[in-house]
Amino acid sequence: MHQTVHVELGERSYDVEIGPDLLAQSGTRIAPLLHRPKVAVLTDENVAALHLDALRDGLASAGIEMSALALPAGEATKSWPHFERAVEWLLAEKVERRDVVIAFGGGVIGDLAGFAAAVLRRGVRFVQIPTSLLAQVDSSVGGKTGINAPQGKNLIGAFHQPSLVLADTSVLSTMTDRDFLSGYGEVVKYGLLGDADFFEWLEESGTKVSGGDMAARVRAVTRSVQMKADIVERDETEQGDRALLNLGHTFCHALEAATGYSDRLLHGEGVAIGCALAFELSSRLGLCSQEDPSRVRAHLRAMGMKTDLADIPGELPGAEALVNLMAQDKKVIDGQLRFILARGIGQAFVTSDVPRDAVLSVLQDALATA
Ligand code: GLY
Repeated sequence: MHQTVHVELGERSYDVEIGPDLLAQSGTRIAPLLHRPKVAVLTDENVAALHLDALRDGLASAGIEMSALALPAGEATKSWPHFERAVEWLLAEKVERRDVVIAFGGGVIGDLAGFAAAVLRRGVRFVQIPTSLLAQVDSSVGGKTGINAPQGKNLIGAFHQPSLVLADTSVLSTMTDRDFLSGYGEVVKYGLLGDADFFEWLEESGTKVSGGDMAARVRAVTRSVQMKADIVERDETEQGDRALLNLGHTFCHALEAATGYSDRLLHGEGVAIGCALAFELSSRLGLCSQEDPSRVRAHLRAMGMKTDLADIPGELPGAEALVNLMAQDKKVIDGQLRFILARGIGQAFVTSDVPRDAVLSVLQDALATA
């Protein structure tokens, strides 16, 4: 059932291994990267309680010793104080230039540990062992690392590709349904942006993926990672095509800001709602058929996911305020909002040519039914 996706980036190339029980095999899979049998692991307290023993045993089975620092779980950890603590701990652990750091957790830990590895001694290698669906299909692949600034999310960071990614799909069974479905928002995004057949398969098999069918999970993660790898290979540092991965994200970032980056809206939930809005906007601009946004929303609904603005608990600001929040997005270039729109399911493209009034009217109508 194991799959390998190769990310071809010249001397920065690496494999993403996907499948069940990879923690048990972590030692044999990581050993070829090591100059000495010792690794430093950055993780969070929740992941440590659930899975650190399994990782320790997996590494020990290949004679690899590990030390670990568990940071508090949650987005607030992606900040200077925790980053400083992580880097100072790695130095105290005497991690050397040729050693390997392991990022063991969800997107927060992957981003922070990757950034710590990027700057430690001017750059050491790191291995991603993502434990959430979102991290397995998105943040652990592609080398974006960093932390948040008071001015916004992910504003401090570096591109630093991992040397290996181990996506153990067994670990996903410990996720809450809400967190799993939030990650599934990113899976749906891949179908919508570039693979209509994959979206159709998700329409048929999405409940198997969410219900725990391992073969379906491996297939969903593998196809998502393959699509991300293809895009990152074409455009590693997001000069063009990589922005396709941000389908739904311009709306999502405004909604996340409007809800204070709180538990009211998880990132993947915002991506799912954002994808539905991006298809609505595309349809109103005459780019795709009117059936496409309905089909997107029908699948999200069938999965029990947040689909509309009405599904976000609490008050939201008005359409004008949401458009203004979009303008804070770090992907704005020369003051122009960039959107990922679609000519149909699986046919997304990047454009700055979107009339503000069209965005406003989509949001006004979405808020009116909220
Ligand atoms: N998560 C979007 C990217 O990696 O480019």
